[in-house]
Amino acid sequence: MNSKIAAIIARKGKAPVAELTAYDYPTARLADEAGVDMILVGDSLGMVMLGYPDTTHVTLAHMLHHVEAVARAAKSAVVIADMPIHTYDTPEQALQTAQALMAVGADAVKLEGGVAVEAQIKAITRAGIPVQGHIGLLPQKVKEEGGYRMHGKTDEEAAAIMRDMEAVVRAGAFSLVIECTRHSVAKEITKACPIVTIGIGAGRGTCDGEVAVFHDLVGGYPWFTPSFARPKADIATEITRAVKEYISEVQQSE
Ligand code: KIV
Repeated sequence: MNSKIAAIIARKGKAPVAELTAYDYPTARLADEAGVDMILVGDSLGMVMLGYPDTTHVTLAHMLHHVEAVARAAKSAVVIADMPIHTYDTPEQALQTAQALMAVGADAVKLEGGVAVEAQIKAITRAGIPVQGHIGLLPQKVKEEGGYRMHGKTDEEAAAIMRDMEAVVRAGAFSLVIECTRHSVAKEITKACPIVTIGIGAGRGTCDGEVAVFHDLVGGYPWFTPSFARPKADIATEITRAVKEYISEVQQSE
């Protein structure tokens, strides 16, 4: 097993894991050099990099292009490549997609779902490819669900998410994203889960680590910021200031 993945597995219940998205060489290199544990080339790139309304427009070609750039930059962090919608509809297709993403430099792949994709995860892990699962809110299902909402609010839904966690673990994943899930449920799942859980919109300290979308962290996509985001910078304002200063300088030169 990849020693970087083994190091993440060993962190369960010991030291929180910091995961961050990145989609290009400079961002990935800065994140890697800053010491982030895992870099997710998320299909959120469809929204924050490509201007689509949601992640359902992302293709495997998009992902291969961005994963290759990120892999060139990351020396220490685990690079995880998201598998786009309809690239893992069957176990055979899932394995082919995972192999294509690994061939351009990913250390692991991520796909959305639990019980529904257990066979797909199994097909990938049996081939020796590390998988990060993703349960709770599944952004690729936004159209079926009619929007984004907190999951696990009823006992039935909480039990279904717990069953999803169990399926992902059975299938051999090494870590698991829990997205927009009631905080008490995320905490309960983390307690019951033998692998590292990574929360997003699932409350602070409820999981074994957290993942953030880079643009939410640095204020790089000012047109939409999720309510759970905790921005640490405002680069959109800084970019606008620099561009205006440049325009003004050019306009004043004879
Ligand atoms: O695509 C992405 O950035 C993700 C995270 C929100 C976990 O899947």
